[in-house]
Amino acid sequence: MFKAKDEGIRNLSKYADAPVLTKSGCEDAIQFILSQIDRNLDTFTDRFPSPSSTNNIYEPWGNIEWTPGFWTGMLWLAYEITGERKYRNTAEGQLESYKMRLKEKEHTATHDLGFLYTLSSVSAYKLTGNEEAKQLAIQAADLLLERYFEKAGIIQAWGDLNNPNQRGRMIVDCCMNLPLLYWASEMTGERKYTRAAETHVKQAAAHLIREDASSYHTFYMDVDTGEPKYGKTSQGYSDDSCWSRGQAWALYGFPLSYTYTGDAALLDIGQKVTNYYLNRLPDDYVCYWDLTFTEGEEERDSSAAAIAVCGMFELIKHLPLLDNNKRIYENASLLILKSLTDRYTAKKDPCSNGILLHAVYGKPLGNGIDECCIWGDYYYFEALVRVMSDWKPYW
Ligand code: GLY
Repeated sequence: MFKAKDEGIRNLSKYADAPVLTKSGCEDAIQFILSQIDRNLDTFTDRFPSPSSTNNIYEPWGNIEWTPGFWTGMLWLAYEITGERKYRNTAEGQLESYKMRLKEKEHTATHDLGFLYTLSSVSAYKLTGNEEAKQLAIQAADLLLERYFEKAGIIQAWGDLNNPNQRGRMIVDCCMNLPLLYWASEMTGERKYTRAAETHVKQAAAHLIREDASSYHTFYMDVDTGEPKYGKTSQGYSDDSCWSRGQAWALYGFPLSYTYTGDAALLDIGQKVTNYYLNRLPDDYVCYWDLTFTEGEEERDSSAAAIAVCGMFELIKHLPLLDNNKRIYENASLLILKSLTDRYTAKKDPCSNGILLHAVYGKPLGNGIDECCIWGDYYYFEALVRVMSDWKPYW
């Protein structure tokens, strides 16, 4: 159905054995995360961690950018696994800030509304039945829907819909923001959200994913004719390369859309994207910031690795027991998780208030290079919670 072909997994022996990832090792890793959250709790009650650290230290920022939800989401994960009120109280207290952001339309001209409101508000509703949080998330879904272009069948990534530089530009990251729309349909009974999400994800699979199952970071569509135009990167090495985090967003996003739509083609493309990713991992299983690089001195992106682990866990849930690659994905995700736990956490840097070191926000933009990134911390935490429990996604 889509043009992407499957290159298979080339080095099966690399993923043949599951690592010795012990329950107590995971418990220790979670304890470390909780201790870092506790360390940050006062600082990041009325403020939020900066998207990336400076010298491994997050600074206090307002509720701007696309990233505050990752901190609030970590508080919800912490509440879920410990039952401790302090995490819930802080996360609930932050809802006011998300409410103001919508009311004042501060930095809301973005597809990232999904990241922001899924992790802060859908999570609150799913865990505690908070009606106000539910309404906030539905409002966010309404705003996200305003970014949908009917003829092209896509949600515009960034900026004003009439900005000529951004008009009709879709982005691979948006695969992670579609669950907000599917969920809004479930809550309201209105199909319009799901219709847009379903159409967008198919357009993403058709145009953002290339024939070799690698991904463009962004792709322009003609919103008047609906015709595809061209791919362009913002955070990757080049327009034709495969930005690691973009591939990880796709790897996780397609199986999530499958959970809501039941469309097997999305699971299939999720596998192809995963295979491409696994074929380009270095010896310690943590990808470089762009999959062009498979060895050498370029920086790793631990955040992409953490996203990919969560994505493979989601993918595995939906594959038949006899699927040839199911065991490989299971081993690969555990190998990555073990490598992150053994080599990439801020246990190595006691001054750091972050969790996962060695991520890259945007190398060509010169920001957050070899730093902690708050979404990396979130997905690493989610991965550990997934491995230790039958976790019900906020997504
Ligand atoms: N969604 C923006 C990023 O991954 O950097």
